[in-house]
Amino acid sequence: MSKLRVGVIGTGKKKPRGDALGYAMAYEHANAFQKLETCELVACADIVEENAQAFADTYGFTATYADYREMLAQERLDVVSICTWMHLHEEMVLAACETPGVRAIYCEKPMAYTWGGSKRIAAAAQAKGIQLTFNHQRRYGAPFTIAKQLLEAGEIGELFRMECECGNIYDSGTHFIDMFSFFNNETPAKWVIAQIDYRTENLVFGAHCENQQVLLTEYQNGVFGLVMTGAGEARPVGCVDRLIGSEGVIDVGFGHGPTDAIRWRKLGQADWQWPDTGGEGIHGPGFIDRAVADAMDCLLNGRKCQLDASNALIATEIIFGAYESSRRRGRIDFPLEIDDNPLVAMVESGDLRPV
Ligand SMILES: NC(=O)c1ccc[n+]([C@@H]2O[C@H](COP(=O)([O-])OP(=O)(O)OC[C@H]3O[C@@H](n4cnc5c(N)ncnc54)[C@H](O)[C@@H]3O)[C@@H](O)[C@H]2O)c1
Repeated sequence: MSKLRVGVIGTGKKKPRGDALGYAMAYEHANAFQKLETCELVACADIVEENAQAFADTYGFTATYADYREMLAQERLDVVSICTWMHLHEEMVLAACETPGVRAIYCEKPMAYTWGGSKRIAAAAQAKGIQLTFNHQRRYGAPFTIAKQLLEAGEIGELFRMECECGNIYDSGTHFIDMFSFFNNETPAKWVIAQIDYRTENLVFGAHCENQQVLLTEYQNGVFGLVMTGAGEARPVGCVDRLIGSEGVIDVGFGHGPTDAIRWRKLGQADWQWPDTGGEGIHGPGFIDRAVADAMDCLLNGRKCQLDASNALIATEIIFGAYESSRRRGRIDFPLEIDDNPLVAMVESGDLRPV
């Protein structure tokens, strides 16, 4: 069988340490694709020529493009990996969906810069029968999968509330709120109520993100989700994910190393139990390799991947719903009936004036 031809949009520039101006996630995607016998990297596109050239040199192919649309037109791609900043995801996913032969799009998170854009790309891929997945790689990390196994085994009884803390709900929060979906069996939410503070301009990969925020959501199965965002001292949860059940508690990411990545205890038990994660912390290693491998395996075997756009939409509705709750100063019942990004709209209208 011939290999799936993979092309990458937005290669980035490899730096010793990534930051909010560039992680070069394309290299993470490419490393994962390169490990698969079923795939071959054949082309890349980046508006910065030297970025594209360095990427092609690293992975041993020659086809580089400044214009990603030209790459789509020329390269007979089966798979498109999109690693640009989020304001570009919508136009690029839509262009890939319009390209004959494309079977799968593996896109970086968050889905898009607006709620309408997120829904449009999910609908476009579905209409064409194209697999559209988002890199919510934590779903493939041992601390998280162990937590889910404990939950499913009934170790903490019935799940009642999930809590998490992170920098903001849009950029980093998409991982955390997506993990709520993972733990809660992809159940959609009923409503969200939230308030944000945006006093200092905070652009993450070019996207406005709040400084601090509190969000409560109720899922259709009655489970609650509580999300606290902000800088270090403004985060009261004490771990990245806390699962509270009728008979116990699981903390994921109590620390950032492999030995304190997960702990749990039953009601009345004095001591915490610390499962062995096999050397994995909350950031890896190996999460993206497994995520890409699973997406490609699902593609080739006709299975729905857990990274599918339909699952990503559940968290994305909560994120934009939270910004809408802040705009309307009230609870937002779903489905969310807006098209824009309320945080950006509030900045543009002058309702919020971050300095
Ligand atoms: N999954 C994760 O854990 C994780 C971590 C960091 C970043 N991200 C996400 O990855 C995405 C990319 O972030 P990054 O840090 O890798 O970006 P980056 O800045 O390292 O790379 C983006 C590249 O896109 C190129 N580009 C810009 N406009 C383009 C266009 N029109 N056509 C082609 N190329 C274009 C830029 O020149 C740049 O080289 C963001 O959505 C971010 O949220 C995900």
